[in-house]
Amino acid sequence: MKQLYHIAFSIAVSAVLLLFYACSHKRDLKQTKSGEIERKIDSLLSIMTLEEKIGQMTLFTSDFNVTGPTIRENYKADIKAGKVGAVFNAFGAAYTRELQKMAVENTRLGIPLLLGYDVIHGFRTIFPIPLGEAASWDLASIENSARIAAVEATADGLHWTFAPMVDIARDPRWGRIAEGAGEDTYLGSVIAKAKVKGFQNGDLYKTNTLVACAKHFVAYGAALAGRDYNIVDMSERTLREIYLPPFKAAVEEGVGTIMTSFNEINGVPATGNRMILTDILKIEWGFDGFVVTDYTSINEMVPHGVVMDEKEAGKLAVNAGVDMDMQGAVFYNYLAESVEQGGDGTMSRIDDAVRRILRIKYLLGLFEDAYRYCDEQKEKELVLLHPDHIAFARVMARRSIVLLKNKGDLLPLDQNITTLAVVGPLADNKKEMIGPWSAAGDYTRCVSLLEGIKKQAHPNTRILFAKGCNIDDTHTYLIREAVAVARKADVVILAVGEAAWMSGEAASRSMIGLPGVQQELVKRIYETGKPVIVVLMNGRPLAIPWIAEHIPAILETWFLGTTGGDAISDVIFGKYNPSGKLPVTFPRNEGQIPIFYNAKNTGRPISDNKYTSKYLDVPNTPLYPFGYGLSYTTFEYSNIILNKNEISYKDTLKAMVEVTNTGPEKGEEVVQMYIRDLAGSVTRPLKELKGFQKIKLEPGVTTRVTFTITSGDLKYYDINMEYKVEPGDFVLFIGTNSIETREAYFTLIE
Ligand code: GLC
Repeated sequence: MKQLYHIAFSIAVSAVLLLFYACSHKRDLKQTKSGEIERKIDSLLSIMTLEEKIGQMTLFTSDFNVTGPTIRENYKADIKAGKVGAVFNAFGAAYTRELQKMAVENTRLGIPLLLGYDVIHGFRTIFPIPLGEAASWDLASIENSARIAAVEATADGLHWTFAPMVDIARDPRWGRIAEGAGEDTYLGSVIAKAKVKGFQNGDLYKTNTLVACAKHFVAYGAALAGRDYNIVDMSERTLREIYLPPFKAAVEEGVGTIMTSFNEINGVPATGNRMILTDILKIEWGFDGFVVTDYTSINEMVPHGVVMDEKEAGKLAVNAGVDMDMQGAVFYNYLAESVEQGGDGTMSRIDDAVRRILRIKYLLGLFEDAYRYCDEQKEKELVLLHPDHIAFARVMARRSIVLLKNKGDLLPLDQNITTLAVVGPLADNKKEMIGPWSAAGDYTRCVSLLEGIKKQAHPNTRILFAKGCNIDDTHTYLIREAVAVARKADVVILAVGEAAWMSGEAASRSMIGLPGVQQELVKRIYETGKPVIVVLMNGRPLAIPWIAEHIPAILETWFLGTTGGDAISDVIFGKYNPSGKLPVTFPRNEGQIPIFYNAKNTGRPISDNKYTSKYLDVPNTPLYPFGYGLSYTTFEYSNIILNKNEISYKDTLKAMVEVTNTGPEKGEEVVQMYIRDLAGSVTRPLKELKGFQKIKLEPGVTTRVTFTITSGDLKYYDINMEYKVEPGDFVLFIGTNSIETREAYFTLIE
């Protein structure tokens, strides 16, 4: 017996030691810098030539995919010459092995390549676009989606993804709103953390984790007039209150890289902006990873008009804090010459840049084995739409759907409908379903809405289809057939929206209604008098006031990716009760833009008085507010109960509501908590999201939801630009969206 005990004890001890070793040897920027790795970098740096150092600072695209305005013909020769440290838009175990061999076996020092790609919402299994995932308000699922993307991408030889995109966006004319988490800083920050965690999983040494890249640093989403690449001009206060925090959250989560944005900020292009790249990012936040530019954004400082030539652009960029030049070949062509001309500390900046880049390569374990991610066997197992990945993609897609309207409880549909018409340019469409930035996704593997409906409708239901129009038709020839089909049906499912290319990069739209003649199609189908369910597929909020007023049931489905048709059918036939909430405001029309929930009150807030802040021709309220989304059931909120009405700086306030499922179905609800500072040393927003909880309730069940608030949650940049809290009166809101809330009052005292 005694011997058994000893064996058990020694097993337990070795398990603990193993666990300790594994944890203490996790390789992640959040860990304090590893002395051993830093020593290795020191010794490597000491023998590198200037040309080899500049090679590490150079990133070129391969010829697999083109994601910007230029390509590089002889990048393979550059790799063999040791003039390239990283390649993007190349994947596949065999191809990445080939490229890696060029670097490792043909160059003097054999420094391995870093291989990157835009794995934005999935790699082969494609998940909802990030704006859609944000609508789930489900951080665990968002993290898992990134985790699966990392598992698939690394199985294809990749080390690095240019994601998450964490740009706050308040202007739906900007096509890249599709790629982020919407308009709110708090939601955007917690999602940034979830995605970095999903991609990096706290250990870059594991061969199923990707180095993440928070982009585009910074304030790219505030492009003037929503026009991509346009200027950004804002106060430092707005920059720090709204646009910087999601990046700070990513840095706190240990993000390995940051990508500069194309835009200028207050006259200084981000790529040459020392204040944001060095003062804030590297000094204030202590960021130890490296900064990569966006595609040729160093070169673009010439047309920006801050330098006269690319050589000057290179010096400006490296001394502002850029470490790696994406595709511009500016460091490649001019940096050595700049150093030889000397005098401005460029050399020490180069050493710091190369140190940062080598640090990431060491954390990835590439120096131990440059080919550890090139695993043809793993590639076979993991990248052919693994059933577990598909199953989760469907869960994520369902949870991203937002029910915008359901008049008369038209939804969920009774399965034994005699005749069902599925109509519209997006009804039998796979290509758009996959959305912009679909990486290695194969749209032919997507489930279209029509396929999804056919799989779940009752076998006796007759299903009719008509396209009705193309997405951007200028003629209405196809509408007549669709109307005829609709007339034969009991219910019409009408899938309308955008093409995938109408959002994402270089895809701003000045008008954000339905493209082409789709609005006409909706009206003509509506005029048949049949019950109509509109299914929206889009990469941005759409101005659809007519549809909102006339159509009884409306589902916002974004671009849901590989399992889209199945997920939408799960919701239509009631297999899943929709739980999504809008991460971004839907305006009534373009004239309201920018419109967002956390606006200021102004000195003349809207009222019946003529002389107040409003329009003559449209209300101030949006079509659908931030945080809005319906369910097939209903939820009732009790009044808020505070544990105290006065708190000091060191106190904790607890706010509790009871939420009851008062409807017929089990369902999920995102309980949202907002705060308003009634008077600050500067004006404060009417509401700011400070917390949320997604709960599940069976019919008739009541649960208590409690939020904890500390004075730290109330900090902001005061009149002196100091990030601090001020005493005063506050309003706390809890509710089902940013407009329908209960409220309670509390005072903060010093
Ligand atoms: C593009 C995008 C950026 C992307 C990069 C590499 O121009 O702005 O988001 O990661 O180039 O494809």
